[in-house]
Amino acid sequence: MTARSVRRGIPLARPSIGERERALVAEVLASDVLALGPFARTFEEAIAALAGRRHGIACSSGTAGLHMVVRALGIGDGDEVITTPFSFVASTNCVLYERAIPRFVDIEDDALGLDPGLIEGAASSRTKAILPVHVFGRPARIDAIAATAERRGWNLIEDACEALGSRLQGRPMGSFGQASVFAFYPNKQITTGEGGVVVTDDDALARNLRSLRNQGRDEDGTWLRHVQLGFNYRLDELSAAIGVGQLERIEELQAGRRRVAAGYADRLRGLDWLRLPFVGDGEDVDWFVYVVRLDPTIDRRRLMARLEEVGVPSRPYFSPLHLQPFLRDAFHFSEGDFPVTERVAATTLALPFSATLSGEDVAYVAEALVDAVDAQFHV
Ligand SMILES: Cc1ncc(COP(=O)(O)O)c(C=O)c1O
Repeated sequence: MTARSVRRGIPLARPSIGERERALVAEVLASDVLALGPFARTFEEAIAALAGRRHGIACSSGTAGLHMVVRALGIGDGDEVITTPFSFVASTNCVLYERAIPRFVDIEDDALGLDPGLIEGAASSRTKAILPVHVFGRPARIDAIAATAERRGWNLIEDACEALGSRLQGRPMGSFGQASVFAFYPNKQITTGEGGVVVTDDDALARNLRSLRNQGRDEDGTWLRHVQLGFNYRLDELSAAIGVGQLERIEELQAGRRRVAAGYADRLRGLDWLRLPFVGDGEDVDWFVYVVRLDPTIDRRRLMARLEEVGVPSRPYFSPLHLQPFLRDAFHFSEGDFPVTERVAATTLALPFSATLSGEDVAYVAEALVDAVDAQFHV
């Protein structure tokens, strides 16, 4: 970076909000229907269609969607759910909300999803479900996981919050679980601000989810008749309108992310201290974040500080769940419990990534990264 000026304003993530989204939000405002209206219905149906599912149930966040699914599947006190410690905290919190117990299994080093070979070792007579996460947009080994779930009669709850648009052998992520959940926070492939959609092929489950999100009303939403304890997990119309606009632009947004990912790969390929994001056979990944892996000899903290100095934000991604203070205390986890997760988490670095990142910015980030690592090895 010596001969060049510091480039300012490269964001780690950035939503792309266009004229269409603005127009649709204006339409909602003009209509006076700000909740329980047509946009949420349009959005959930379109997301279900993308995932090849019969039903979509829009809700206020991915977390809300996961929570409703755990509740709707009758998972409760003392039941166990096999899941991954290499995730965002919501995939475990949704289990804890219902006083069920997350049983972590370690991950695979390349696919980054929970390791199918470790599932049986974590099973018990209380196991009710398995909850894999498609990390960073790339598929977990969902075929093997689904086969085990099927054989053992467990529910499969698919956390596809990071994986809208990714495919395995042509099949969309989000099409594998009894219920699968997408999320639309502004750093996701498409956004609604806050929001989520649960998809499923199960008619009864879909009915129940619609009731749960709407304060436990019965299916037709009868004014003040509540048939069960529910939540207010509805998606408002302004958010849904943004989502409808984003879906109209999804190909443009996907192409932008593909361009940026290819730009990084071109510039960072072949470096002996860096691993590019892994893509396996038959996988078509629409990245949610672009996470490279550093050689363990690199001091990541110093590297990030140096990148920050030249205007490049970067982050470790994720931090292991079993080492989060509240989970560590509750379940007496300690370092070394899930060694692959810990080893991977210690070397990840998320680079600036969005559909609108310019080619110049990609080049700048890649060059800054190489310079910063060179500087570390040559002091
Ligand atoms: C793997 C995973 N699960 C669940 C969620 C929860 O989604 P939300 O932030 O919409 O509640 C996220 C989103 O950040 C996620 O990345």
